[in-house]
Amino acid sequence: MNNLILCGFMGSGKTTLAKRLAEHFGMELIDTDAEIEKRENRSIADIFATDGEACFRAKETELIKELSARDNLVIALGGGLAVNEKNHPYLKSGRVILLDCGIEETLKRIEGDKSRPLTANGREDIISRYNFRRPIYEAVADIIIDSSEDIDRTFKTAISLL
Ligand code: S3P
Repeated sequence: MNNLILCGFMGSGKTTLAKRLAEHFGMELIDTDAEIEKRENRSIADIFATDGEACFRAKETELIKELSARDNLVIALGGGLAVNEKNHPYLKSGRVILLDCGIEETLKRIEGDKSRPLTANGREDIISRYNFRRPIYEAVADIIIDSSEDIDRTFKTAISLL
């Protein structure tokens, strides 16, 4: 139950902050995207292209279920994981921190990013996905942090709130 779980949209800085928090608190870091890629021995883009998004989402659920039974983890979630209601019970295994850098900064960070399958449909699609997800992230979060500035600032804010 003492896990720290970072959620938020693509580009919000979950992985970077998770690394800093894990180092600071001496906790184990798990990035769900990296963990799935490691277990599958292929990229997320490959999983989407070969087996489809539903297959990737099932792998996310399987993984977060497994991690929720563990302790002392800092978990950086892929951007869609906390949106899926099926996963909500497993997010109760820790404090959920939402990172949000706002839509303009999000677009600057991820528009045109070829490694993320869900940025392929362009700006309007990213904006509507962000707007749809924002209240869902907020509903599962215990703490909300503005991550629009640099990582040092975000890290300091996180430490002061934890
Ligand atoms: C996704 C976000 C990605 C990755 C996948 C789907 C999403 O993770 O899980 O491409 O649905 O927002 P990041 O948030 O780490 O980019």
